[in-house]
Amino acid sequence: MPSASDPPPLTPEEEIAMLRKRLAAAQRMTALGELISTTTHEFNNVLMTIINYAKIGLRHKDQPTRDKAFEKILAAGNRAAKITNGILGAARNRSDDFAPTDLAKLLEETLVLLERELSKYRISVERQIEDVPLAMVNPNQIQQVVLNLLINARQALSPGGLVIVKLGMDKPTGMISLTIRDNGSGIAPEHLPRIFDPYFTTKTGPDETGKGGTGVGLATCREIMEWHQGRIQVASTVGKGTAFTLKLPAAVVAAPAGPAVAVGVPARSAEPT
Ligand SMILES: Nc1ncnc2c1ncn2[C@@H]1O[C@H](COP(=O)(O)OP(=O)(O)OP(=O)(O)O)[C@@H](O)[C@H]1O
Ligand SMILES: [Mg+2]
Repeated sequence: MPSASDPPPLTPEEEIAMLRKRLAAAQRMTALGELISTTTHEFNNVLMTIINYAKIGLRHKDQPTRDKAFEKILAAGNRAAKITNGILGAARNRSDDFAPTDLAKLLEETLVLLERELSKYRISVERQIEDVPLAMVNPNQIQQVVLNLLINARQALSPGGLVIVKLGMDKPTGMISLTIRDNGSGIAPEHLPRIFDPYFTTKTGPDETGKGGTGVGLATCREIMEWHQGRIQVASTVGKGTAFTLKLPAAVVAAPAGPAVAVGVPARSAEPT
């Protein structure tokens, strides 16, 4: 029998909201687990490079060889740091907090995590990055969306395929627009209305990297974009490819005097020429 101290039962809407949140959290853990296994291999390769060049440096006493060995060790060390930062970024701070976020940086951190996998499948990445304001997002959740989209793109591509990541402003809405486009298989028109449904998949099971086939990736993306009051759109042609576009709100900064304004926070400083 319910006692007076029991919380009131959830309404069906509340229950659905709670279950959707749990689905997104579970997908996050799966995505993280897959990533960790991919990047651990990659990290190991980097360590091998460091160990081998340290051995070369010890064996050879001449300065040019030692200099080269140190350069290789430094480059590999920097790469190892990038990899661990990416993973830490993905694992850290599971809070639902929104913060002004540099999407160009977030994209790079996410691409680093998939670099080895993409090169293994001989997939190249083209970046079309414009200066945009900071976005008001939960960085971990948006990284999860980007990861899901990049993994789907990779799975739709044949060796030699191309992924284009494009960051810019969507002038009509004033939102930041992030597109991930592939020139892969495309999506059949009869599947297109269903791709965001939970558990809809055309994949027969996990691929050799252990990813794919549960049909929760895009359902989670849609869920996360709804929390952000953003949008996710898809355009696809069979045999030509697919583009997913995210529209995200820019961060609002308080002007020194007067009301808050939603523009003018450069997310990246200009590249040195
Ligand atoms: N870039 C793409 N190119 C072609 N088809 C795609 C692409 N992205 C998604 N799809 C289609 O949409 C379906 C649903 O994608 P979704 O990411 O939700 O699930 P999944 O990739 O099958 O499994 P997972 O839960 O591991 O992500 C896919 O099975 C595929 O048919
Ligand atoms: Mg997927």
